[in-house]
Amino acid sequence: MPEADSTSSKQFHEDVPQRNEAFFLKGAGAYDWGMQHRLAQIFRPETGRTVMLAIDHGYFQGPTSGLERVDLNIVPLVSHADALMVTRGILRSVIPAAMQHGLVLRASGGPSILKELSNEQIAMDMDDAVRLGASAVAVQVFIGGEYETQSVHNLTRLVDAGYRHGVPVLGVTAVGKELVRDARYLGLATRIIAELGAQLVKTYYCDVGFEQVVAGCPVPIIMAGGKKQPERDALTMARRAIDAGAAGVDMGRNIFQSAAPLAMLTAVRGVVHDGLTVNQAMDLFESGRGAGA
Ligand code: R5P
Repeated sequence: MPEADSTSSKQFHEDVPQRNEAFFLKGAGAYDWGMQHRLAQIFRPETGRTVMLAIDHGYFQGPTSGLERVDLNIVPLVSHADALMVTRGILRSVIPAAMQHGLVLRASGGPSILKELSNEQIAMDMDDAVRLGASAVAVQVFIGGEYETQSVHNLTRLVDAGYRHGVPVLGVTAVGKELVRDARYLGLATRIIAELGAQLVKTYYCDVGFEQVVAGCPVPIIMAGGKKQPERDALTMARRAIDAGAAGVDMGRNIFQSAAPLAMLTAVRGVVHDGLTVNQAMDLFESGRGAGA
């Protein structure tokens, strides 16, 4: 039996109202504790932003350049990102389970690059996402694509499953080759994805009107990286997206296809979390590259 507790030493601070802090993420105040907790594994509460490293490309295009050997090329980077976007196949086979960062699991798939990409289906049970400790699951949504309705249905079924388990859903605006990535299209796609229940949305950057895309989306927007560009261009894009209100970036090829992936990831973090200018971030990149990062 524990000893009896002494009532005279208790400190109830009756005159201090209990703190009831608002959750820090846009649109996320009404989510259950588990979902907020998972979101806080992706977004750093101090900045409200995230740097996600996307390495899920293999789910439709096989051994992408830079991802041929995830154990050699990616594992050393993982602890430098806030979250990793990955398939469950690579996660279980290659990524060390002792990692401490956020985990966004690819949950849609089906067609390869040889077929119509919008013809995706849900490719993972929410049970397995929970078993793997996912912070969120990701699904492509092809607004305007051939299988638009099917991909929207994938999203909404995952959102329903996610609410049953407290797992947020990242809706990814998958833009077909025939569509223009302008503010009008991206505003349409991101808003639809959020309206249908995604708790966070990933989308491409556009030079004109991106701040309106962000303002019109009621949940956090994460900027997608896209094809490899010179480092200065990628850092400029990230700087502009953050300045326009994006809650972070999810970059793949612009990091792992860089001549110095760790230096690039560090520079992107400087932009997203530390407010670095493009020139400052480039200096950070160059010094990291010089040091062999
Ligand atoms: C696309 O949306 C997939 O998730 C990609 O595999 C990945 O996120 C793309 O990353 P990035 O365009 O930055 O290489």
